[in-house]
Amino acid sequence: MPHARPPAKVNLTLRVVGLREDGYHELSSVFLRIGLCDRLTVRAAAPGTAADTLNVQGLDGAAVSGNLVLKAFESLRAYTHLPLPALEATLDKQIPTAAGLGGGSSDAAAALRLAQAAWNVRVAPADELRLAESLGSDVPFFYLDMPAAHVSGRGETVTALSGLTGGVGVLLVTPAQRLSTAAVFAAYHRASEKVAGTQTAIESDTDAFVDGLSADDLPGWAARNRDANDLWPAAVSLASELGGLRDLLERRTGLPWLMSGSGSTLFALYPSAAEATDAGRALAAAELPVLADALIFAVDLVGPDPVWRYPWPSER
Ligand code: C5P
Repeated sequence: MPHARPPAKVNLTLRVVGLREDGYHELSSVFLRIGLCDRLTVRAAAPGTAADTLNVQGLDGAAVSGNLVLKAFESLRAYTHLPLPALEATLDKQIPTAAGLGGGSSDAAAALRLAQAAWNVRVAPADELRLAESLGSDVPFFYLDMPAAHVSGRGETVTALSGLTGGVGVLLVTPAQRLSTAAVFAAYHRASEKVAGTQTAIESDTDAFVDGLSADDLPGWAARNRDANDLWPAAVSLASELGGLRDLLERRTGLPWLMSGSGSTLFALYPSAAEATDAGRALAAAELPVLADALIFAVDLVGPDPVWRYPWPSER
């Protein structure tokens, strides 16, 4: 049965470099694909089925109504102007939602590809990114399926970064409190009207990083770029416990912790997935109240499943 494993991403940097006339923000961000994937299956529905269907299982939080998988089917059908038959999709969520990991966008990109295969239609190359972007700002990155990229504009300008050499492990902590991307950008916008003129020095950080992405350099790079996410103050203004959680993770692990996207996931980079796993196990064993309802994942950059996770799905 045709299926895909849509991956998550983390943002190694996320600079807001302007406000566009359409209300979206102009971004400059380094995206890194990570080995934590949903599972999406798409097939033709039984003959006579009137509408596309989606069945969502796995982690809590992903709704069927308004799901980008169904929107991707609708957009592709509208694009082709053909009366294409209904599709039946199953989505097994392993990427936490509203967590800054791009899971919904990645599902949408995979749905766009699987639906083209199921219907045996092709989007013209010149239209692919426009269609992807119409589903969400992060969808072009996932549709292009790159290990790492510099992403700018609203999200539609995606430039591949050189491949990573050597091992990298990422330890992710997704707190129980999740954040709406729109709400975080709105909070950023309100605050930035008061504090102008901080962008220039920050932007050069991302430029330097775009020159090359060496896995061996990542941990050191993370230390220098701990605060390279402009949405952090806005996220903390909406989820005040994030600040304390980050302090605690840094004290416990001795590493800088970064926020992915608009949050609420925090992450640290390790030289290997095994070291990320050891650190995750130590955090889980400490039974910290602040992590009681959090999800913890140790991942490599390949996946498709985490190397280690806490709790295991059956434990909650
Ligand atoms: O594009 P997407 O639907 O994922 O964006 C969700 C929300 O995040 C948008 O409605 C917008 O408020 C905000 N956003 C933004 N600038 C971007 C991306 C997202 O302001 N580049």
